[in-house]
Amino acid sequence: MYDDSSARIVAGLREWIAAAAPGARLPSSRALVAQYGASPVTVQKALRTLTSQGAVETRPGVGTFVRAVRVARPNDYGWQTAALGPRPKAVQQLSRALHSVPNDVIALHSGYPDRELLPERLVRAAFNRAARSEAAVTRSPAAGVPELQAWFAAELGAASPVGIAPPAPSDVVVFPGSQASLSTTFRALVGAGRPLLVESPTYWGALLAADQVGVQVVPVPSGPQGPDPDALARAFAQTGARAFYAQPHFANPTGARWSPELSDEVLRMAREHGAYVIEDDWAHDFGITQDVVPLAARDDGGHVVYLRSLAKCVSPAVRVAGLVARGPARERILAGAQAESMYVSGMLQTAALDVVTQPAWRTHLRGLRQQLAARRDLLLGALREHVPAARVEHVPQGGLNLWVRFPDTTDTARLVQDCEAAGVVVAAGDEWFPAEPTGAYLRLNYSGPNPGAFPEGARVIGEMLARQA
Ligand SMILES: Cc1ncc(COP(=O)(O)O)c(C=O)c1O
Repeated sequence: MYDDSSARIVAGLREWIAAAAPGARLPSSRALVAQYGASPVTVQKALRTLTSQGAVETRPGVGTFVRAVRVARPNDYGWQTAALGPRPKAVQQLSRALHSVPNDVIALHSGYPDRELLPERLVRAAFNRAARSEAAVTRSPAAGVPELQAWFAAELGAASPVGIAPPAPSDVVVFPGSQASLSTTFRALVGAGRPLLVESPTYWGALLAADQVGVQVVPVPSGPQGPDPDALARAFAQTGARAFYAQPHFANPTGARWSPELSDEVLRMAREHGAYVIEDDWAHDFGITQDVVPLAARDDGGHVVYLRSLAKCVSPAVRVAGLVARGPARERILAGAQAESMYVSGMLQTAALDVVTQPAWRTHLRGLRQQLAARRDLLLGALREHVPAARVEHVPQGGLNLWVRFPDTTDTARLVQDCEAAGVVVAAGDEWFPAEPTGAYLRLNYSGPNPGAFPEGARVIGEMLARQA
């Protein structure tokens, strides 16, 4: 993003360019500095932007000139229709949760926390140090930088009760984000055409990854307390599935957190059926009133394959996640990871490790907990006030979002559209359902920018809902 002043210069010069002839010379940098009352650096930044957009060209020592407009010839990609064949079901739209939106809207849709919730100073310092380290110019091992492997293993091991062997660093495979690890794991442990049990609703990205890999998703009803154990047992028995993808803590989207009894029951079923539980611990660092004790910490028999991402809590630019798997599963997953991406940038791994091993990281997490609590309660209060018809069945004890149910008659697609037209971006719950949605839901994220605007966001949602009455 540009800062405000360079965006202003770009906009002004674009108008000037539109009225100028091709080849016309732009005012000198000095003249622009005077005209816009901006610093030379900002003017240069604006000129670089216009150059990268193809609007001007700079001839060193001579000046900057308007580029001749090339008339765009429409390309004919029709031949690709025959080459690609019919569109498979798997080619889905990018989830709304990943849409980038302008700064002036109220964004309640995103899955990644706003930068003011990130340890920005730690991240910048870590990148500076990483840039000066060997990591900037070397290839890291396929399974990950050993120190980072050791950190992921130690974090999980610290939660292991007495009598359960903690994982070893060599059980860890580092991935470029946990999304990548989902595809690889589904491919390695399930395979095309075979069943994978999933909670319903569940993370849309896991459904997308499963679709891409071609595994058969089998939905198991899940609610504020987690999956229904009877339905899970039936699904294991009826399908012969050998894997269950689940989020035992602060599930996206429901916010559910499994009780210790349910965790034991699921582990027991996994053992009984010789199956894996693929535990996505995406919100490990987003506990508000509860900490996460991973299911994987209770298992040393290789049944739980554990995923922990640092991309949300450290920075979305640090796409690093650790996967812990024991036994041959780990070898299969590593082989898949190598085939897909060979290795993860050592720069990113080194920066990630630097951040999470600073004493200030713990301080940051403590502050984050308070900020998330305040934001969650602010959004909850705003919904109660402005959208009384909406129900939050479960106030999450961690995570980043509320799962909000609307009256069954609600047309969620229209609600999303109307809200967006009024400057409030929300995500329809439909994307989180592997089958038909069982209700009208929105997933509202309370970790986005500008929490001060939550009441206004809720007011708009209430107003647009009222229009459907
Ligand atoms: C439950 C869950 N798992 C995995 C991911 C992917 O995270 P990453 O950024 O590590 O790829 C997300 C991102 O929204 C998520 O919500």
